Amino acid sequence: MKIIDQSLLNILATWQKELEQSTSDQELEALRIAYLGRSGRVNELMGRLKKLPLEEKRTFGPQVQQLQEIITQGLHTAQQKLREESQEKELSKKKNFDVTASNPSIFDKATGSLHPYTHLIERIEDIFTSMGFAYAQGPEVETEWYNFEALNIPADHPARDMQDTFWLTTPGLLLRTHTSSVQVHTMKTQQPPLAVFTPGRVFRHEATDATHDFMFMQCEGLLIDKNISLTHLCSLLKVFMRTLFEKNDLSIRLRPSYFPFVEPGLEVDISCIFCKNGCALCKKTQWIEMGGSGLVHPETLKACGIDPTLYSGCAWGIGIERLAMLLYGINDIRLFHSGKIEFLKQF
Ligand code: DAH
Repeated sequence: MKIIDQSLLNILATWQKELEQSTSDQELEALRIAYLGRSGRVNELMGRLKKLPLEEKRTFGPQVQQLQEIITQGLHTAQQKLREESQEKELSKKKNFDVTASNPSIFDKATGSLHPYTHLIERIEDIFTSMGFAYAQGPEVETEWYNFEALNIPADHPARDMQDTFWLTTPGLLLRTHTSSVQVHTMKTQQPPLAVFTPGRVFRHEATDATHDFMFMQCEGLLIDKNISLTHLCSLLKVFMRTLFEKNDLSIRLRPSYFPFVEPGLEVDISCIFCKNGCALCKKTQWIEMGGSGLVHPETLKACGIDPTLYSGCAWGIGIERLAMLLYGINDIRLFHSGKIEFLKQF
């Protein structure tokens, strides 16, 4: 049946124009609703058809039917064409994908950088290896014996309170509270003469603030040989600090203190690197505290299988964050493992 009714021909003409302009699935779907939907053009025509006298129904009805078929078929073909085109596009994308292509502008902006820990540990490593020290490491999960007992800190010793400990649920296991435990590993496995430095992470069950964290880094040093004395300790620390801070007139001060694994135990201070007469950083004292040190206690040597009548040694433990904060002007210890990109990008 041919469409001859003018109103139907008009609808067909607009439909064809709109179909040509529809280039996406969404547009085709909108077109389907406008023509074939419940309140679409075709249904409107059906309503009109119902009201016509029988004679007119006979000629108008089949023409509406024809229009509906043309529209349905047209939509179907257009949808199929769209699908084929998008499949072809995908295929050609895959075929022409260049794995070697790069966008240099992205990479220029997003270069990585070294963490301040890495910078500092590399510098520490340079200084100690140049003095003949070897790099040593130990486990972060430690036994009570390596962390405390071998270091002359038995279970009931009040010195255990100085280091609030993260205990594991397995009895006797803990997160090491200091790198001094690596001294024990070294002495137990190697014979003197010994010279090691051991940078590493340590853990304390402590409240955090700008200068305290529950996780931080220390660098331990240990020298064992015949006739090691405070002179060795003092000069080693002086050379280390002067080289690290690139300051030849830097002084070292050793103050009596107490650590069960050394005798005497000494607190290490350096002369303030920022002032000569006292400033806010050294709290007007002209000295900055750096860590602990001493001559290895005979009990510690014995526990690790070294004869204290033949050998003596000196040891020290220094906070790595302390050094980094002074060297790089960092004012909050928690920044180190905050993962803040703005902080890290500066190094
Ligand atoms: N382990 C001590 C602490 O974390 C620091 C220390 C003191 C290390 C004296 C030493 C030392 O090697 O001899 O507080």
